[in-house]
Amino acid sequence: MLKILVCVSGGGTNLQAVIDAIKQGLITNAEIVRVISNNRNAYALKRATDAGIDAVCISPKDYADREQFHAQFLNAVNEKNPDLIVLAGFMVVLPQEMIQRYRNRIINIHPSLIPSFCGKGFYGLIVHEKVLERGVKVTGATVHFVDEGTDTGPIILQKAVMIEDDDTPEILQKRVMEQAEWKILPQAINLIANEKIHVDGNIVKRTE
Ligand code: GRF
Repeated sequence: MLKILVCVSGGGTNLQAVIDAIKQGLITNAEIVRVISNNRNAYALKRATDAGIDAVCISPKDYADREQFHAQFLNAVNEKNPDLIVLAGFMVVLPQEMIQRYRNRIINIHPSLIPSFCGKGFYGLIVHEKVLERGVKVTGATVHFVDEGTDTGPIILQKAVMIEDDDTPEILQKRVMEQAEWKILPQAINLIANEKIHVDGNIVKRTE
C-alpha cells in the first residue's frame, strides 16, 4: 500500500479528485496518510478532515524564520514516512533537503503543457493569462516529478485542452482543471502505486 502525503495551499479540488479516485477504485494500492497545508484557511484542510484524513497546518507565520518553518514542515512530512508526496496546488518552495531525500517520490501538478508557460512566476491564474495573451490554441496540464528546478523534473503525464474564442483566464482555468488536472493527477498516482513507471535519467518510462 503506497502511503501518500498531499501538500496543499488552497481550495484543494485536486486533492478532492485524488480522494474520490481512491474511493471509486480508480487509484488502487494507495492511501492518503496526511494532508499538510501552509495556509490555515485552506478549504483543502476541510476536505481532508471530512474524508477522515489526518490534516495539519504548518504556517510560516507561526515561526520566526524560514529555517524553523522548514524544520517543522519536514518533521510533519517525515513523521508519516510517505512513499509519495503529492504537491496539489502547494505554493511553498520546498527545502532542498526534502527534494534530495524524496528524489523521484515527489510529484506536482502544473496547469500547462510543460515546457510552455512554466517556471518562475507561472502559477495560478497567471499561467492562463499568459496562455491567452500568447494566443496559443492548445494548452493543458502536466504531472511531473519534482527536482531542484521550477517545473523541470521528469514528466509523467500530460493532457491537452483546447482554447475557445471567448475564454477568460477564469474560464480556461476551470476547463483545464476539469478536463485535464483532475484526470491525470489520479492517473499518475495510480501508475506509481502499481509500479507501472520508472525514471530513467530525466525520462519517465513504462515498466514492462
Ligand atoms: C491547480 O491549478 C494546480 O495545477 C496548481 O494549483 C491549482 C490548485 O488548485 N498547481 P486546487 O487547490 O487543487 O483546487
